Amino acid sequence: MLLLVKARITKEQLNESLFSNSSFSISVNDIKNINNHSNPIRQLLDEHEAFRISCNDLLGFLERLEKDGYRATIRTSDYALMLKTRENIKEHLNVHLIKEEEIFFPRLEKIVPQGRIKFLYLNYDHEYLRNYFEDFCLIVSDYENDRVPIHVSIRKLIETGKLIIHNLLQHILAEDTVYFELAESGFDSDELEDMGREMKLIETRLKEESHK
Ligand SMILES: [Fe+2]
Ligand SMILES: [Fe+2]
Repeated sequence: MLLLVKARITKEQLNESLFSNSSFSISVNDIKNINNHSNPIRQLLDEHEAFRISCNDLLGFLERLEKDGYRATIRTSDYALMLKTRENIKEHLNVHLIKEEEIFFPRLEKIVPQGRIKFLYLNYDHEYLRNYFEDFCLIVSDYENDRVPIHVSIRKLIETGKLIIHNLLQHILAEDTVYFELAESGFDSDELEDMGREMKLIETRLKEESHK
């Protein structure tokens, strides 16, 4: 039965399902639109805001699963949310982490005394987040290929989803409140322009690699 339901879901139906949930459709649009921001620091901050909205959508879904307990099921709209979250991870979150590691952190470390030591934990956070993202993608893949019973998918979704939400929001908070404020006043316009250009190159490079 589950196979039949999943096999019948077309891309159009998924889009319809996504856009019937207004807050989620906003988050998807936001992530796509912010890629053209002229100030790279503002762009990273805007991406944080879009990720926060996505976390909120995911949290609503997970809370419902928890509340429903043994009666919990994955509806078509939930499956669409799972697919969109996986897309966000692959196309946006992973790219965001690399842009920070390759462009933002090294420059930030230069303008803050002992910055290398101070910001090391942000790099550690990224490693943990990558593991959770990978786990989440695997859970979605197991679900869509019927590799595990649904109650197992639901339990794993709750566990990993909560780890992503908690750790990502904490990480974003740390970057927003301290480092990005510092970065906005710490870089001159030439450097901001360089960073913007380099970030664009990374986005293009990663997009090409993901389509190979
Ligand atoms: Fe980060
Ligand atoms: Fe970030």
